[in-house]
Amino acid sequence: MTYHSEPHDFSDKRAGYEQLATQLQGLLAGEADPIANAANTAALIFDALPGVSWAGFYFLRGGELVVGPFQGKPACVRIALGRGVCGTAAAKRETIIVPDVNAFPGHIACDAASQSEVVVPLIAAGRLVGVLDLDSARLARFDEVDARGVERLAALFVQASRLEELR
Ligand code: SME
Repeated sequence: MTYHSEPHDFSDKRAGYEQLATQLQGLLAGEADPIANAANTAALIFDALPGVSWAGFYFLRGGELVVGPFQGKPACVRIALGRGVCGTAAAKRETIIVPDVNAFPGHIACDAASQSEVVVPLIAAGRLVGVLDLDSARLARFDEVDARGVERLAALFVQASRLEELR
């Protein structure tokens, strides 16, 4: 597999996410190792999506979220369910868009530069596996189109990977 980093055109966001989903399918094809796939998913998102300062995974291990493969600055390792944006998205099993992290009660500031965030829960066969988290240094970087686009990328990762190996 050779990945060529090309400028991604997100002037039409939906089309941009379609292109990204096709690329991710190609990256994950024929590989089911969850760590390898999480690493490549985070790297693709970080490389392709403009204005993203952190992109990566937290996996549910021993009843709490533990940081997995990511791109960006070093991050908090453990997050309790229900805490922060990640723990809230995981506990509610809902995607959460936070336009201004400073206005989100209980937000966990790993990187002081982070201003907005989107977190998508990872559900496989009805079981919570973890979350996919994206941060930006820009306020209100993520909208509903981003949320749906990132949910699609998360679903591709879930489908492609043997997630039972993470337990
Ligand atoms: N801000 C997150 C913590 C994880 S980092 O952003 C990588 C939260 O509040 O859950």
